[in-house]
Order: sequence, then structure tokens, then C-alpha cells
Amino acid sequence: MSWVEMKARGLRQEAEGILAVELCMADASPLPFRWEPGAHVDVQTGSGVVRQYSLTNLADEGCVRLAIKHADDSRGGSRWLHQQLRVGDRLRVSAPRNLFPLQPGNGPVLLVAAGIGVTPLLAMYRQCRAQQRPVQLLYFSRSAAHGAFVEQLRDDPAVRLISGLCAADVGAYLDQHLPAWQPDSQLYTCGPDGFMSSVQQLAGERGWPSSALFQEHFQASIVSDSPATELVLARSGKSVTVQAGETLVAAAERAGVSIPTSCGMGMCGACMTGVVSGEVEHRDQYLSDAERASGQWIMPCVSGCAGGRLELNA
Ligand code: FES
Repeated sequence: MSWVEMKARGLRQEAEGILAVELCMADASPLPFRWEPGAHVDVQTGSGVVRQYSLTNLADEGCVRLAIKHADDSRGGSRWLHQQLRVGDRLRVSAPRNLFPLQPGNGPVLLVAAGIGVTPLLAMYRQCRAQQRPVQLLYFSRSAAHGAFVEQLRDDPAVRLISGLCAADVGAYLDQHLPAWQPDSQLYTCGPDGFMSSVQQLAGERGWPSSALFQEHFQASIVSDSPATELVLARSGKSVTVQAGETLVAAAERAGVSIPTSCGMGMCGACMTGVVSGEVEHRDQYLSDAERASGQWIMPCVSGCAGGRLELNA
């Protein structure tokens, strides 16, 4: 992974629990990269942990803008940024990568965001507006105070800001407002898993084909393997039983085998490991369909074993 050194040029409390961060190159040179909406960067915080954050702005602005939610269970990523980062501080930032690109086309785009899920959709919204592509943004937040960027969005007729609804009312609102599919339309959603599932399910019922539906998971869901899973580490000649709720990386670590990681969320590729035998349950967002189908690779920070035994080249 290639890193650049950036400097915090601006910090703003954007909403309840959300810090807006503007980064420029530490040596004031132009940005050495560009990106498309939906992209994210890895940020190495002063606590040493690496976290992924979506870019909320477009590349031609010449700086990187992020919006960082303070995670209640933060292990030093968002907590450090919220509490320790000051204007002028330096951070290591990766070149942007995009697992959630806006697809080409001129058809209408519907963006459905909840909470901090608005960040990649905001960049998409701006791009569509800049290209005069029809776009609508539905943005759900826990309360008006939790809504980020509302000053810029409030008077925009293409944006609906919805706050303070309970989960059942969010469902009812979506039921009322999610349109039927029109040819060439695309729907992008980002937010908590349950929210995105509701959006996808309703959209399916309204005729949206899966090829027109796109979503981004902020956090890979870690599903427990069967407690009886045996992990064999072929190169090291070790084996270990994976415990319920434990990642394969953690199980390998217990056996004394260190698998390199970065994001720990199945997004960056740092932990990519060869599979010698066994069936993989893929839970990452990194491998291509072809790589998954080959059965040769696994991202062990999040993925697991679909059978009772998995042998990895580690
Ligand atoms: S550590 Fe990033 S994909 Fe596994």
C-alpha cells in the first residue's frame, strides 16, 4: 500500500458525534492522486490503528474531506481522531481506493443514506449534480442534531432530510417513498446493515433488478464459525481450533502464526492468504468474483470456513 503524509488543514464538529476533517499534503504540494465518488482512504491515526473513511468531496477540490463518526466501541481510530487530532497535525493516508463506484450512465440516480452512510453518497450526489445527471438523496439521521452537512442540503429540492424516526417508521417512510424502478435508474444505499437490507428488499419488491442496486458496508459483519472448525497453517506446520466469534487471523495468532493485517474489515487486501484446502465462506469486500470462484484465496480477517476444516498457506 502506498502512503502519503497529509496535514489536517481544517476540523469542524459537523454534527453530533461527527467530525469533518480537511486534509492537504503536508508539504503543500498538489494531491498526488485523484478519485471517483464512492472511494475511501485508509488513515493511520496517531494511535497506530488504520481505519477506512469515505471521501465526501470531489477530486478537483484539491484536498481530501472526510467525515468521521465517533464509534462508541472505538479501539483508537475514531476516538483518537475526535479527541487528539489538531489542525496542523500530520497523518499517513493511503491513495484512494473505490469498492463502491458510481456506475456510468445518464439515468436517474437514487441515493439512500442512513447516519454516517451519507459520506460516500454525498460525493456521488455532488458528482451527479456537476454532471447534470438526475439525482435524489434520501438521508435518514437519528435526530436533526445528528445530521451531517445539513446546512448545505437543507434547501435543496432534490434532497430529503429525515430525522428522528424509529426503525419501524423508517420502514414505513421507505415504503411510501421508494419509487418503482425505471429503466436506466440506479439505486445506491449506505448505512447500517439492517437499513440497507430493508432498502434492498423494498426495491426488489418494486421491480429494481439487482444489477441496478449498489450498497456499501462500512463494517464487515463478523459471523462466528462453527466452534469445531480446525484451522491448519500449512507453511508453519501448526493447527488450531477456531473459537466461536474468533477471526481466523486471531486463531492463527494464538497458534503463534502472524498474518499481516491492516483494516481488519475485509477491505484493504493486506491479509490475503492462499487456501490449500477447505471451503471458504467469503465475507470480505476485496476479492473479485473470479478470485472467490477460484477457491484459492481468503481474507482471513473477516472470512471463515464453510466446513469443519480449512488449510491455509500461512
Ligand atoms: S486486513 Fe484488510 S482485508 Fe484483511
